[in-house]
Order: sequence, then C-alpha cells, then structure tokens
Amino acid sequence: MRMNLSVVILAAGRGNRMKSLIPKVLHEVLGRPMLQYSIDAVKALRPKKLVVVVGNGSEAVRKRIDDNDVAFVLQKRLLGTGNALSVARKSPKVPGKDTILVLNGDCPLITAATLKTLLKKHRRDGNILSFLSFIDDSLSGYGRVMRNDNGNVTGIVEDKHATSKEKSIFRELNGGVYIMEPEALDWLGRIRKNSSSGEFYLTDIVNIISKKTGKVGAYQCAPEEIRGINSREELHEITMLLNRKNISKLMKKGVTFIKPDSSFVHSSVSVGKDTVIYPNTFIEGRTEIGKNCIIFPGTRIYQSIISDGVTVKDNTLIEESRIRSGSVIGPFAHIRPGSIIGRNVKIGNFVEVKKTRVGDGSKASHLTYLGDAEIGREVNIGAGTITCNYDGVDKCKTVIESGAFIGSDSQLVAPVKIGKSAYVAAGSTITKDVPEGTLSISRAKQKNLKKWVTRKQSGVKKKN
Ligand code: UD1
Ligand code: CA
Repeated sequence: MRMNLSVVILAAGRGNRMKSLIPKVLHEVLGRPMLQYSIDAVKALRPKKLVVVVGNGSEAVRKRIDDNDVAFVLQKRLLGTGNALSVARKSPKVPGKDTILVLNGDCPLITAATLKTLLKKHRRDGNILSFLSFIDDSLSGYGRVMRNDNGNVTGIVEDKHATSKEKSIFRELNGGVYIMEPEALDWLGRIRKNSSSGEFYLTDIVNIISKKTGKVGAYQCAPEEIRGINSREELHEITMLLNRKNISKLMKKGVTFIKPDSSFVHSSVSVGKDTVIYPNTFIEGRTEIGKNCIIFPGTRIYQSIISDGVTVKDNTLIEESRIRSGSVIGPFAHIRPGSIIGRNVKIGNFVEVKKTRVGDGSKASHLTYLGDAEIGREVNIGAGTITCNYDGVDKCKTVIESGAFIGSDSQLVAPVKIGKSAYVAAGSTITKDVPEGTLSISRAKQKNLKKWVTRKQSGVKKKN
C-alpha cells in the first residue's frame, strides 16, 4: 500500500549564525542553494504535495527556487521550528490527512535512500512520529535525544538548554528529519514557548508524544548525511564533504585527481576514464568531460561539453561551450558562452572566443579575440587578430571560410567575410569582403628613409 505522503521543508529561519544579508537556505553548496538539495532528495519519494515554509528573505527564496512542484507557505513571525510547522499545517496547501515528512532546509547531504529507509522503519514499527538521529561527539548545537532505561525515546533537549550531565548521557543527536502521522501533528498546538529563547521548538512534540502515546522512534543514520549548516564554517565543511563524495565517485570510475581536495566538482558533472585533473580546478554545472582528457591547474569549466582527448592547459576558463575531441585549449584562454570548438583545434595563450564556431583543425595560437564568428576548417588565425564585432549598437558576424590565412595583427571589421583559402596580409584592417583565393592587404606602404639615423645623430651633436 502506498501511503499518502506530503513534505514540509522548514526554510524560514533567520540564519543569524551565518551573519549574512542573504537568506541562509540560499547560500550555495557547490553551485546550488542548500535548500535545493533537500527539495531534490524528497522528490524521489514522489510526495503528493511539497511545501516549503519561507519567512526570512521569502521573496528571494521564492524567486530562486523557481520550481512548479514546490508550493510556498509564509511564516510571518519567525517563532521557531514548531511554529513553522504549525503555520504549514494550517495552510490548505498541506493535506490534513497525509503522513508528513518534515525536514530542515539546511541539511543538503540528505539522500532519498535514507529518507526511504526512515519511512520503512516508521511503518514497520507503527510509530506516529519517527525521526533521524546520529552520533558524532565532535559536534555541538544539535538537539540531544533522550532515552529511558529501556532505550525508548522520551524526548529531545536542545544543546543550549542541556545540562552537562544530560550532555554526557545523551550522545545521540537529532537530525531534524521527521515523519509524522496526522495524530502526531494534532499535538503541535501543545508546544509551549520556550521561556529563555521565546521560540516554539518542534522538538518539544517528541517529548509530548512519547509521554502521551509512546509511539515515537529515532533511527540512526550516517553523520555525513544529516549534518546541518548554521555557520560559514559548517557551510565550508559540508561543501567539502559533498565535494569529496563527488570526486571519489569519479575516481571509482577511472578518473585521476592529482590533489582531490583542491579540485571542486559539482554533483552534476560526469568525467570519462583516464582523464587527469590537476589541482586548483573547478568543474561546474552540467559539465561532461570525455575520456583521456587532461585538465591542467587553475582551470574552470562551467556547463560545457568536452569530448575525448582534449587538453585544457593552465588557467583557462570555459563557459557554456563545446570542445570537440583532440583540441588543445590554453594556457590562459577564455572560451565564452555559445562557442563550439571543432576537432583538433588549437586555441592558445590569451585567446578569447565568444559565440563562435571554429572548424576542425583550425588554429588561433596567440593573443586573439574571436567574437560572433563562423570559422571554417584548417584556418590559421595569426597572433593579434581581432574580430571587430561590435559597433557600439549591434553585434555583427565575421565569416572566415575553410583554408583561409589571417596574418598577424589584423582587424576584421564585421560584418565581413573572408573567402575560402583567401589570405589577409599581416597588419591589415579589413572592412570589405575578401573573395575566395584572394590576397587582401590594407596597410600604409612602407617607406625607408636612407641615412635618417645618421642625419638625426649629427643634428643632435651640433646642438650640444
Ligand atoms: C534544529 C533542531 C535540533 C536539531 C537540528 C538539526 C529545533 C528546535 N532544533 O536546530 O534539535 O538537532 O535542527 O539540524 O528544531 N526555521 C523556520 N522557522 C523558524 C525557525 C527555523 O522555518 O522560525 C527553519 C530554518 O530555516 C532551518 C530549520 O528550520 O532550515 C532549522 O532551524 P535552525 O535554527 O537551523 O535549527 P537548529 O538550531 O539547527
Ligand atoms: Ca540548523
């Protein structure tokens, strides 16, 4: 039997410990807001309704989490986690008869598998409330799960309110992920304001229900999955945990990382066998890297497709582009969005490419700007070539057909077309199309003034 399950994610809190103007749940872990991770994890359970409680920075959160599956409920006064769930429960967006999975929006490492296991144990034991717990003596700030001599859960005491005796006895920590049946939610109104913090603690419901019904269960999971983010330090620690997980997944598939802790790899990245990734590299967004590639240090690749056997040399930035097999990019190259670099292409030092197609076997080895250009096969672009694509109002196109040779220090003023196998002489400013097979030269004629230097020197002597 599939039960009716809905989800409430608590994401309204102030996040004071972040010391930030940005709502805590929008702080990014490897390129995505931390809240997005909880949303993705719960989606695997196919809940009937997915509700996020927002409050602090609610407009920013709604805007950033632009997802048709998510409904938002506003907690107007941030009176604690207990109040946040009460507000959600009163909203028509949360079905009154459903089992509700409640989780904090600040624990991005949670997995669908762990949530499913919790659900299974909850049903097996016939609880009306179950939650995830874990043990990690190095952490503080979490609620502590209290159990009686029989091992049954009797309540949760928040770390800041726990006595040192309680701390030494109760080492099991509350993960902030709960499954509640409607009977459990009915007790929400019984939660009283904490006298020292002025908040309604959701955790108090555990104390109430265990006293009234006893049908409460806490189930341990791996600490790495359940850790929350309250401070910048924790943001860093959780980022490193996820990063390590992503990298070890790739290593298991045959990718070499020279110094894994200095590379940052987003969860949506794939990399093929025998690719080697050097230190200080960032592989971001939905990036696919093929087999046998080398990514040298200082490189960032965002949302791009890199085919097999590509070498990306040091300090290169590639964004929203495609690099086909066998090409060599960099060092110090910038491939900007919308570029498609063909097979066996060379893009060298200080070359910027924007929204440009470069055909197979073409080369732009040094100091060049190629913007809004269509470049054929086997084209040679000399050092210092500039496509002048912008006239201050419009962006115009440069077409360079296959086999053309562009001499060094040329400016190609777009819109302009260089025909097949045409030559542009070094230092030319090309404003008109160059037909196929033609040499175009546009520069002042060279004059050699004989004995000019001797005359100049003798002039200087006389003055002295
Ligand atoms: C909470 C638990 C603690 C548990 C820990 C796990 C309570 C009282 N304590 O503590 O037992 O070990 O999580 O990570 O629940 N929120 C709202 N509205 C509010 C206050 C908070 O929506 O008025 C949201 C926050 O945005 C956050 C979540 O609830 O996503 C948890 O709040 P937070 O302040 O981080 O609770 P912790 O102190 O971590
Ligand atoms: Ca927290």
